[in-house]
Amino acid sequence: MILWTILVGFVCLMLVYKAFQKLTCGICRSGAHMFGKVVVITGGNSGIGLETAKNLAERGAKVIIACRSVPRGEAAKDEIIRETGNKDVHCKRLDLASFKSIREFVADLEKTEKRLDVLINNAGAGGLGNTKTVDGNHIGMQVNYFGPFLLTKLCLPLLKSSAPSRIINVSSIMHKYAEMDFENLNMEKYWSDYLVYSNSKLYINLMTLELSKRLSGSGVTVNALHPGVASTNLFRNIKNGLIRGIVNFVLGFLYQTTWEASQTSIYLAVSPEVKDMSGLYFSDCRVKQPSKISRDEKIASQLWEETEKIISRSLKL
Ligand SMILES: NC(=O)c1ccc[n+]([C@@H]2O[C@H](COP(=O)([O-])OP(=O)(O)OC[C@H]3O[C@@H](n4cnc5c(N)ncnc54)[C@H](OP(=O)(O)O)[C@@H]3O)[C@@H](O)[C@H]2O)c1
Repeated sequence: MILWTILVGFVCLMLVYKAFQKLTCGICRSGAHMFGKVVVITGGNSGIGLETAKNLAERGAKVIIACRSVPRGEAAKDEIIRETGNKDVHCKRLDLASFKSIREFVADLEKTEKRLDVLINNAGAGGLGNTKTVDGNHIGMQVNYFGPFLLTKLCLPLLKSSAPSRIINVSSIMHKYAEMDFENLNMEKYWSDYLVYSNSKLYINLMTLELSKRLSGSGVTVNALHPGVASTNLFRNIKNGLIRGIVNFVLGFLYQTTWEASQTSIYLAVSPEVKDMSGLYFSDCRVKQPSKISRDEKIASQLWEETEKIISRSLKL
């Protein structure tokens, strides 16, 4: 009887939490169209990126999904075209684990596009282990931070010439569990998958803050966001199949759908009310307060300089 009561209580608690998630989840209400706009979405072949790409294609944008796997990217492109009726959807190869790939992607983008209105740094990964990229950086740090940093820098001329334009950085609430250590930016002193993910998301927030200052007056805005929690391929690197299944089931039941988790990215890409907002952190289509370190301008500026050094050292390898 006691066990039964505990079970019923637990299920009720879950249902209340689910209802809370549904009621507080921010939805992009803007009906703004995107005709004539060019949008790049990294990782647009899966999860939140795919949903974001579909929405922006529906609004008439030219959508370029930047994907590390061309077959997966082409399949996603076909799905977006089929579901939205917008044929101006393209897939270009981009592997954030390779600076060469990033440079080739931007060189190609500059050849094919005269403008870039929205860059969404959406791609990200967790649980990549403790290996180094061909550029000599920690794999997780490069995919989630150094890669998007370089990509954004290389895209700036196109973004500036297309102003008003927007940069959107998909961060995570996990940034709150990061440890700021300038001696360990590349995870050479100590690491864990958890720390790599949290730190890379903190650095994305700090990059957003510093870049917003550097872009002041240029007409290019940059904001970061936590999309919410959704059951996506993000958790594919959990090796134990049972744990992976449980995580996906719990997240799928308790939290957002990928459609819901894409709403804040879409909001930042299309909504007229955020056109002059920059350097901020959003969640549920609202401005939210990120961690205290994320708001530290001195740390943001120092991190920017250290990141540039790490990237230029890698480029000389
Ligand atoms: N899902 C959540 O609960 C959650 C919560 C907070 C933040 N986020 C953030 O939301 C963003 C989207 O994640 P998601 O949940 O939609 O996961 P997802 O379904 O796994 O999508 C991640 C995308 O990133 C791409 N990617 C991974 N490594 C890459 C690389 N080296 N180069 C280029 N692209 C790469 C993936 O490509 P492949 O398909 O080829 O692997 C995929 O398209 C991520 O930045 C994630 O950190 C997610």
